[in-house]
Amino acid sequence: MSIPPRFLDEIRNRLTLSEIIGRRTTVQRAGREFKACCPFHKEKTPSFTINDDKQFYHCFGCGAHGDVIGFVMQHDNLSFIDAVEMLSAEAGLEMPKPDPEAIKKAERAKGLHELMDEATSWMEAQLEDPKNNNILEYVTSRGLTEDIRAQFRIGFAPADGQAMRKYLAGQGFSDAQMLEAGVLKKSTRGGEPYVFFRDRVMFPVADRRGRIVAFGGRILPEHLRPPQADPNFKPPKYINSSDTPLFDKGRMLYGESKARQAAREGHTLIVTEGYMDVIACHSAGFKGAVAPMGTALTEEQITSLWSMMVDETKQPVLCFDGDNAGRNAASRACERIMPLLQPNKTVRFAFLPDGEDPDSILRAAGAKGFKKVLEGSLSLFDFLWATHTAGRNFETPEARVGLSKTLQNLVNNINDADIQRHYRELIRTRISDTFFKQYTPKGKAGGRLPKGPSLRVQPVANRKNAMAQKILIASVLNNPLLFGDVEEQFGLFGISDPRLDALRHKMIEIFHEDVDVDFETLCTNLKTYGFSQEMDDILNESVYVHAAFARKAPEDDTENVDKRGQWMSVYESLSGQSAQEEVLSGWKSALEQSNETQEDRLRDLIKIKSSE
Ligand code: UTP
Ligand code: MN
Repeated sequence: MSIPPRFLDEIRNRLTLSEIIGRRTTVQRAGREFKACCPFHKEKTPSFTINDDKQFYHCFGCGAHGDVIGFVMQHDNLSFIDAVEMLSAEAGLEMPKPDPEAIKKAERAKGLHELMDEATSWMEAQLEDPKNNNILEYVTSRGLTEDIRAQFRIGFAPADGQAMRKYLAGQGFSDAQMLEAGVLKKSTRGGEPYVFFRDRVMFPVADRRGRIVAFGGRILPEHLRPPQADPNFKPPKYINSSDTPLFDKGRMLYGESKARQAAREGHTLIVTEGYMDVIACHSAGFKGAVAPMGTALTEEQITSLWSMMVDETKQPVLCFDGDNAGRNAASRACERIMPLLQPNKTVRFAFLPDGEDPDSILRAAGAKGFKKVLEGSLSLFDFLWATHTAGRNFETPEARVGLSKTLQNLVNNINDADIQRHYRELIRTRISDTFFKQYTPKGKAGGRLPKGPSLRVQPVANRKNAMAQKILIASVLNNPLLFGDVEEQFGLFGISDPRLDALRHKMIEIFHEDVDVDFETLCTNLKTYGFSQEMDDILNESVYVHAAFARKAPEDDTENVDKRGQWMSVYESLSGQSAQEEVLSGWKSALEQSNETQEDRLRDLIKIKSSE
């Protein structure tokens, strides 16, 4: 129902904004305005202002901004219509009567909703019909239990293109209505209209209020093979309703009504690719799963995801296949999302192992396996960084500046000025942290910060050292718990192979995000960043023969090997190069980087050495 703007103005005029807000949170007068601690983000000193004359509120902390209607929508989690209804009662106004044209439209829509619901019930019954037992068997083999079938109203559309038409006609629906609802198609050869979905497993699509507005239909496995007659013809695996007065494909998400509820209960929203993924996630307890229907995620769908979430920081997790196609899809999604970023509104990217979808991962690795994938998800920035750095070499300033330019160009697409500024800052610091600064350990409990960057010890690139470096990394990778014991040293030894150095750096980053990260998550994460090759290079027998402690400890490890002690002795053998070499190589790198602190330290070192 559309509400005339005059009516909305009347509501705003009759109600005092500060009073409406004051009933929900404490407000204080401050001159001509009112102040409050912002109800939309956590804060101790008030940065939320209310201006009754101008009829709006604004938070200088989080950017929340709006009028009385916007406030109750957001604060009371109401739809626009519900908010207007509530406020008009409060203002002593009667809701405007919808005009006759709108009433007619609403009635027609009601008819279509009833039609869709009848169609759904009929197809549900077809699936349970003993003559379609083979279909039920297939559906069950895909993990759709009776309970899940009922929740998602899974059905079957039989091959006979007239059966459902007859049934719906018997229920009083006309061909015209069936055509409008998209369940019937006109014959192109002048024959009778026929049912669009035939011989398919049916997935009804519910709108946010749970009403069925469209269908997706999956082909039966025996038809997926092309028919002999035309080996080139490949029928589509899924077909979907086209847009109708009830259904706008680009705005809706499969699973939306259930996910909306789940989000309120604290579930993470997870965007998957298709029907089966949503259902599999749901069965495994990931009740915030949704999927677009055969298209890429649209702007409207992203905005709608954010609006469903009640968490302070809204970050749905988008799942992609870990292969090339999946990465490309993720990049395109990222491009679409950047202009939309808002304070507290972002997304994360999760990558599944090559060729898997959530449905298959859940079958293979259970809820725990999928949870790990989600936990390994990347922030938008980390995704950008990984995309543009994985597998590349940034030894030259030219390459580094190139990287910086590419990233800076990308963030031009962010419309929100503050967020754009923060991204620029992040690019600068990430580049300097990665390429220019020596890793400085954070120290566990508020530990001390080293004064200046420590000397980068450029190693003599001999075979023995290269092996020692591999051992030091492999042992920590295989035994993530070891990191806590050797944290200070792990960032300090020189690594001759820049790719291995990058691998180490990424490991440190991951550990800093999650000290308790386990082996599998660590590996998945590193692979996502393109380190598969490097990992294969160091996690193998050729390394383990030199140092058994670098192996992954067995689950029931009772031997209690002193991994730390062994690690330290390899570390010391590596660091024990001659002071002369250290001075020379350090001097060289100081010149290259013209790092004053480093130069000073070198001068000191030379002084000490020459006075010895
Ligand atoms: P997939 O082909 O990966 O399907 O397409 P799937 O869901 O894994 O299929 P199952 O597991 O074999 O049943 C991914 C998603 O893309 C949409 C569907 O939503 C599907 O779930 N899709 C795919 C279409 O809409 N039309 C198509 O022709 C193919
Ligand atoms: Mn699948």
